[in-house]
Amino acid sequence: MKSYIIAGNWKMNFKYNEGNEFISQLSTTTKALELHNTDVYIFPPSYLIGTGASTLKESQIIIGAQNCHFEQQGAFTGELSPEMIYSAGGRSVIIGHSERRHYFNETNQDCNKKIKAAVSSGLTVIYCVGETLEERESNQVSSVIESQLKEGLVNCEEYMKHIIIAYEPVWAIGTGKVASPEQAEEVHSFIRTTLKTLFTPEIASSVRLLYGGSVQPNNAQDLLSQPNINGALIGGASLKVEPFISIVNTALSCK
Ligand code: PGA
Repeated sequence: MKSYIIAGNWKMNFKYNEGNEFISQLSTTTKALELHNTDVYIFPPSYLIGTGASTLKESQIIIGAQNCHFEQQGAFTGELSPEMIYSAGGRSVIIGHSERRHYFNETNQDCNKKIKAAVSSGLTVIYCVGETLEERESNQVSSVIESQLKEGLVNCEEYMKHIIIAYEPVWAIGTGKVASPEQAEEVHSFIRTTLKTLFTPEIASSVRLLYGGSVQPNNAQDLLSQPNINGALIGGASLKVEPFISIVNTALSCK
């Protein structure tokens, strides 16, 4: 039986009380489920990690951050280090989301430094890769993904056990335009082949690959049943209990 990861990326949503209330609801709802083959992650804005981690103590939900810095402390105004995330109860971090790459000019090299710092601090990393529409239309999908993997994961062989990769085509994020299951599977399979070249066949087959980009309850089943898709990174549909839990339930019923 395949095992899955269903991860919610809340982006910049929820004020303090709303976010805490939502975490409590998720905690209660998932406690009633038997998450036998599925790990559930949530990535709220960082100010919710501390209280969220204590609310989720008895639940099976893992809480994490949407970004981190690559240094552990110092004069980096406005930044949050992997050790800080860990100390607040966070156990995971998203690195290289396309919004970070696009709006904050993050490069594959920045991601590489962040990945190493995060894993060294005990965090599981979800490293995001994906092409823009322009890159897809000019047949650059493979070359873009390959450099994101090659440069972002340079010298990371020893960390790969703690790295999950999310394929998120930029044109599918928040647009309602989901990649077809075949398109997603094609890239996921390419990611495994690339990881085999970069690392070892064992690493390539054991790394968990998530699809992200307009995942909703009505398309989750087709995506999750693709052979090389091990879960989903969900934005919009993770902001309400019902669609998010519905996707968790889909994973629970997938073989
Ligand atoms: P979306 O976002 O599900 O709203 O498309 C996915 C993501 O950005 O991780």
